[in-house]
Amino acid sequence: MAKQFPEGFLWGAATSAHQVEGGTNNNWIQWEKDNAVRLSEEAKDKWQKWQQNKFPEMFSPENYISGRACDHYTRYEEDFNLAKDGGHNAHRFSIEWSRIEPEEGRFDEKEIEHYRKIILALRERGIEPFVTLWHWTHPLWVEKFGGPANKKFAEYFAQYAEKMAESFGDLVKFWVTVNEPTSVIGAAYMVGIWPPQKRNIISVFNVYKNLSQAHNLAYDKIHEVHPNVQIGFANVLNFIEPNNEKSLLDKFVVGVAEYFSNKKFLNSTKGKNDFLTLQYYFHKKIEFPMIEKNENKKVSDLGWELYPQGLYYLLKKIGKYNLPIYITENGLADSLDENREWFLRESLRNIKKAIDEGVNIKGYFYWSLLDNFEWDKGFWPRFGLIEIDYKTLERKPRQSFYAYKEIIENNGIKRKPC
Ligand code: FCB
Repeated sequence: MAKQFPEGFLWGAATSAHQVEGGTNNNWIQWEKDNAVRLSEEAKDKWQKWQQNKFPEMFSPENYISGRACDHYTRYEEDFNLAKDGGHNAHRFSIEWSRIEPEEGRFDEKEIEHYRKIILALRERGIEPFVTLWHWTHPLWVEKFGGPANKKFAEYFAQYAEKMAESFGDLVKFWVTVNEPTSVIGAAYMVGIWPPQKRNIISVFNVYKNLSQAHNLAYDKIHEVHPNVQIGFANVLNFIEPNNEKSLLDKFVVGVAEYFSNKKFLNSTKGKNDFLTLQYYFHKKIEFPMIEKNENKKVSDLGWELYPQGLYYLLKKIGKYNLPIYITENGLADSLDENREWFLRESLRNIKKAIDEGVNIKGYFYWSLLDNFEWDKGFWPRFGLIEIDYKTLERKPRQSFYAYKEIIENNGIKRKPC
């Protein structure tokens, strides 16, 4: 079995605007202000004792306000220099729609210029940009009409996508329309813990429909402007297994969960994907009616089970669609960097196994390049290859940054001498 990854494999890391840039003004900002105190108070019930002791920041309301985040908006060159030092030849980031179109129909040319500089900064460093258009944040005027719960969302999103294609299409080959639609559907509209916290089954189905429509329209618009670019959406897939292989009821609930989290969105964007993506964080062993039975032998700082084998099974599944595949997110919160290198190696081994069995995988983006603002959990979960000191904003590559660099330099995992 060849140990090397295919020639031209894209190696990089991902970020999203709201989580790293700082100074945004979108649908999350007011919600953060309104909920920071509540979230800091709820931490004592939400997290286990070891997590509370390890991350006392979770009890402070400031933890839940994105504020200046990593100030990546002004420090992007420094960050891209680091990515380049780490050997990255690709980088996934998102454009903040609320900067580009702060009012309906008014595009801010200064902000367009800013993102042009970002894209050029990547290109100058030999780093291929993967550009996401909606990583869960949008302008306040969009939120006002209901965001993705309103069918107008798709039209407006497509106009914004078209504008971005016209502005940067000459510099961008890979576009990612929407990020993890099912995460938003689940957290914002089904469970109701993310903005706009509107728990409503009708909205669940409307958001499925409107986000897939947004993707499909944007796909056409971008291709009208630039027929040769590649377009996809960022798809989070869970590796779901029945707790008891022989139980029909367990298998039934696995089928239902699989359909809603892994298949429905893909089906409704059929024919409108030039590549598929995989974002992988969760293994779920489930028992009827919907009880999680994971063994949790190893967990991240967030308590999420570390189960790199899941990647292999998911890649084999989506390999059947016969489209090129990019892993656009995969990572773990690990403040002390104890498991990250192991996790990276194991994840990449599983990816390589799928490649060796014929799955057309063309790139891997670790989540995340930098520590960042983790949505309703705030700053304490540390996903970065690069550590951020939030007081000084100093960047410090972790040990795993160098382990990843070595893998990239070898275009694969070197077998350790016995
Ligand atoms: C993904 C999100 C990303 C980040 C990671 C941990 O679901 O796309 O922004 O929060 O989880």
